[in-house]
Amino acid sequence: MPHPPILAPSLLAGDHAHLADSAGNVAQLGLAWLHLDIMDGHFVPNLSFGPETLAALRRAGSTLFFDTHLMLSEPQRYIDAFAKAGANQITIHIEPAYDHAETLRRIGALDCKKGIALNPGTPASTIEALLPLVDLVLVMTVQPGFGGQSFRAEVMPKLAQIDAWRQTRGLNFRIEVDGGIDLANAPQCRAAGGDTFVAGTSFFKASDKPAFAAAIAKL
Ligand code: DX5
Ligand code: ZN
Repeated sequence: MPHPPILAPSLLAGDHAHLADSAGNVAQLGLAWLHLDIMDGHFVPNLSFGPETLAALRRAGSTLFFDTHLMLSEPQRYIDAFAKAGANQITIHIEPAYDHAETLRRIGALDCKKGIALNPGTPASTIEALLPLVDLVLVMTVQPGFGGQSFRAEVMPKLAQIDAWRQTRGLNFRIEVDGGIDLANAPQCRAAGGDTFVAGTSFFKASDKPAFAAAIAKL
């Protein structure tokens, strides 16, 4: 049975002067997840926000599921801080060299869900051994670092490969697609096995957000 679809709006495309309001817009729609993109200016050539932003959103009353995407060269140094700040799920990238399995174990020990992410050019085989350890695989459909880029359809076979492993091995992780997702390409992501849809620009620019959310829920 495929997982029901989840829409995870990316706060990166929200109003950075009023992030609590942007998170509030998501909650008002009845959505459960909020995607938080954390960038270190090293693994990716951009900066975004840090644990204090999550903590501030919690203090402002947000009860959304904080789907926290760490685009960091040394994520293992920041796991505790993000868990303490209110992350519900922490996703780390496979590309930098550190102890991925130990870092996932630490995320779980802090009562957070565990995710592994891979860039468009990174083969599925690099995460294969970690699949039994994770709750979510994040498949980047743009090169990470910036919102508003174009979706890369060439990633779809990799999505299908990860979905095939999930089915044949009896695994139950979610498959999240992230980057350039909109209502035009979400159906092909769903067909290839995606069930969790990050949407930054397309969501926050949508004039009819309830219709956007309903379209994803119907996939
Ligand atoms: C990119 C981030 C994405 C980004 C998506 O580095 O990981 O989550 O916010 O934004 P859009 O939907 O605008 O591509
Ligand atoms: Zn992201």
